[in-house]
Amino acid sequence: MTSNAAIKVDFSAKAPAHTQHDFAPGKMISFNTYLRPAPTYYYGNDIIEELAAMLHGIEHDKIFFVTNAVLKDFYWNEIAAAFARNCLVSECITIDDAEKDKRFANLERLCETLVEKFVTKGSIIIGFGGGCLTNIVGLASGLIFRGIRYIEIPTTFMSVTDSCLSNKQAVNGRYGKNQYGMYYAPMFIFGDTRFLKTESLSGRKSAIAEGIKNALINDASLLPYYEDVLDTDLDNMKPRTLTELGYNIICSKQEILRKDPSEKLFAMALEYGHTFGHAIEFFSGGSVPHGIAVAKGMCVAAEISNRLGFMSREEVNMHYHMFGDSLRIDLKIPESISVDDIMDTILADNKKTAKGVKYVVLEKIGACLNPDGDFQICVDTDLVRSVLRDHNASVDAILG
Ligand SMILES: NC(=O)c1ccc[n+]([C@@H]2O[C@H](COP(=O)([O-])OP(=O)(O)OC[C@H]3O[C@@H](n4cnc5c(N)ncnc54)[C@H](O)[C@@H]3O)[C@@H](O)[C@H]2O)c1
Repeated sequence: MTSNAAIKVDFSAKAPAHTQHDFAPGKMISFNTYLRPAPTYYYGNDIIEELAAMLHGIEHDKIFFVTNAVLKDFYWNEIAAAFARNCLVSECITIDDAEKDKRFANLERLCETLVEKFVTKGSIIIGFGGGCLTNIVGLASGLIFRGIRYIEIPTTFMSVTDSCLSNKQAVNGRYGKNQYGMYYAPMFIFGDTRFLKTESLSGRKSAIAEGIKNALINDASLLPYYEDVLDTDLDNMKPRTLTELGYNIICSKQEILRKDPSEKLFAMALEYGHTFGHAIEFFSGGSVPHGIAVAKGMCVAAEISNRLGFMSREEVNMHYHMFGDSLRIDLKIPESISVDDIMDTILADNKKTAKGVKYVVLEKIGACLNPDGDFQICVDTDLVRSVLRDHNASVDAILG
């Protein structure tokens, strides 16, 4: 367990899900995502040959493999070779995929490029990248000719464990994140953790922060497991250990989707920390990675819960210690982002209703407030502003 005495996670621990599986290289498992529609998730380490064999068995005219220039350099040769061994006709297309590229102009360019290259209703489009790239490619696939078959290959730990477990595809607008999009399910998801070897540590932390979020909103008995994970050297995880950890995070999200495949009721709890996180991510131009921005947002949401009379000070502090001390995330909101910036973006957030902006707030660790049946509550704007104003000072006071 962690050496930080300030963290008191005394929830009963649950055995992690991975113990049912052998994640040796080359072994692929498949499971239900519980989305609606529910694409199958094929998962493992070093399993690209399996993908090529599966594609060989699916009738199609051509595969359009969309990725970014860096990932193309890293991985396209070996993937193209596996495709060629299985007599697949494919072409690689690159796009820009930073958070700032998740916008209409880039989406339109990709759609026009695919049409120019004679994509047909018989084609298959593959999105190979992180959550930004797969959001853009998933949306393009849904739009072209009202829907081309799409396969999602997530290549960041965040997208392997979180963003691919959603049929939501979107680009950002001028006023905020994910403002334009739709639900469009891939044929299947293919997660090969071998592609994570080139990812940065902050990407890995981002995914673990979302995994902890799943425990905070739905299953506190998973928190001791994450404490043990955070005590290990995250930068030097063996592929098998990383694949196991990924599977456990996937299972924790799967449990939530099992309760609400629509992603619109209980699964709204997955947005814990996201209203603030999205604003921080948006205004940082993507320099604060998604999960790290969400971790900051969860601390803000925890303070709101405390001020509303729900979570205890100890429960709130546990957020700071888990993300700040153990995961070693900088929890401060960058000075360049003002409270007004955040509030303006929140007013354009997709959780805004006629009654005001709704927030996901915990009643206690492991349970969301749910006064109206949509797992969100309206919070007085002045209270939100006050918590945001105090946020960086709270980080200093709690973490020292
Ligand atoms: N649809 C959903 O429900 C959902 C859920 C969570 C997040 N998201 C979205 O996902 C995005 C964040 O995704 P992300 O965290 O995967 O980050 P990202 O897509 O921004 O990728 C981060 C960086 O890593 C690079 N990269 C990707 N794979 C790599 C690899 N294997 N090796 C080296 N570099 C690699 C990317 O090119 C990019 O520069 C946000 O836009 C967020 O809104 C969507």
